[in-house]
Amino acid sequence: MLILVTGGAGYIGSHTVKALRQAGHSPLVLDDFSSGRRAVVEDTLRVPFVEGRVGDGALVRSLLTGDHPACAGQRVEAVIHFAGRSIVGESWQRPAEYYGSNVSEALSLLQAVVEVGAAAASGPAPFIFSSSCAVYGLPRTLTLTEDHPLEPINPYGRSKRMVEELIRDLALAHGLPSIILRYFNAAGADPDGEIGEVHDPETHLIPRVLDAMTGRSPFLQIFGDDFDTPDGTGIRDYTHVCDLAEAHLLAVNRLLLRRAAPAADGAPVPFRTLVYNLGTGQGASVQEVIEAAKAVTGRGLLAHVAPRRGGDPPRLVACADRARGELGWEPRRSDLPTILADAWRWHQALPGR
Ligand code: UD1
Repeated sequence: MLILVTGGAGYIGSHTVKALRQAGHSPLVLDDFSSGRRAVVEDTLRVPFVEGRVGDGALVRSLLTGDHPACAGQRVEAVIHFAGRSIVGESWQRPAEYYGSNVSEALSLLQAVVEVGAAAASGPAPFIFSSSCAVYGLPRTLTLTEDHPLEPINPYGRSKRMVEELIRDLALAHGLPSIILRYFNAAGADPDGEIGEVHDPETHLIPRVLDAMTGRSPFLQIFGDDFDTPDGTGIRDYTHVCDLAEAHLLAVNRLLLRRAAPAADGAPVPFRTLVYNLGTGQGASVQEVIEAAKAVTGRGLLAHVAPRRGGDPPRLVACADRARGELGWEPRRSDLPTILADAWRWHQALPGR
């Protein structure tokens, strides 16, 4: 089955592309390579890809209908939308870029999906959206369920919430079968060592810990040790990127089962968008990540306590019972030692590490 994966050259996108292919699907990547890497799809995964923007309506329509040569005559049967900008700090400096890329371009993509779907006997193609725990803002409860109020505290989180709202409204109006997946902290790398995390600049904790261990950076900054947590450092729900990828497969399957053809009079059947948190329910503090990394790598590091990073909540831990119950999702590699062992193997193979 041909599945359009926007942002398929990025971190979570590329792991999902690999999982889709292993499950027998045909992923087709649309990426502008602004942050994703061309070599990942071209040389490593060797999957069909198109260089272009999600906001390019004509291009996207030609892909959805199967008229583009990269589709080899097949129609797209599901869309997984990863493309977008994802660095919280940067979203404060360049909000227009974030709203343009994450919201306007997503709207253009969604419009194309419902327009092409209106002309198809089976209705719009199922749509899966990469959202984030950043939509919740400051947690009011110890673990976050999907019903927690959405009060994002930065432009990145607000852009994700806006797209969630667009999807829900289009799903009701046009019968768009849709799932929103809210990731907590994606971490780790492909256990085969083919693909992994590469961001430039790198802002994420685990690669930065590993960089401090290899000497690529002189020390790690711990952003705050005075949070209201047992050891004072921030707690996050680290989830293996391959477990996240697996959830997309389950989401595609669920939507294909739920896809409803338009009614006899051609009217779309409203769809209530499904929302799932993807996390383990187990938080780890910055200090615990450092200790686990030392145990896995056998290396030490220099760490300095630095002031808190603006807008960092003390603790973000998912309640992912809904994804387990309804999607049958079971994280299998999301314990810290496995995440760190996979990240370490990948990290060591990177040039300059
Ligand atoms: C944030 C977003 C997440 C987004 C991700 C991508 C929120 C709540 N979460 O995750 O939705 O997808 O960015 O950019 O907005 N830390 C250090 N030193 C470092 C780096 C990080 O101490 O050098 C600490 C942070 O303060 C935090 C934890 O490590 O407590 C994890 O940070 P990071 O990996 O950057 O992810 P988030 O900020 O949680």
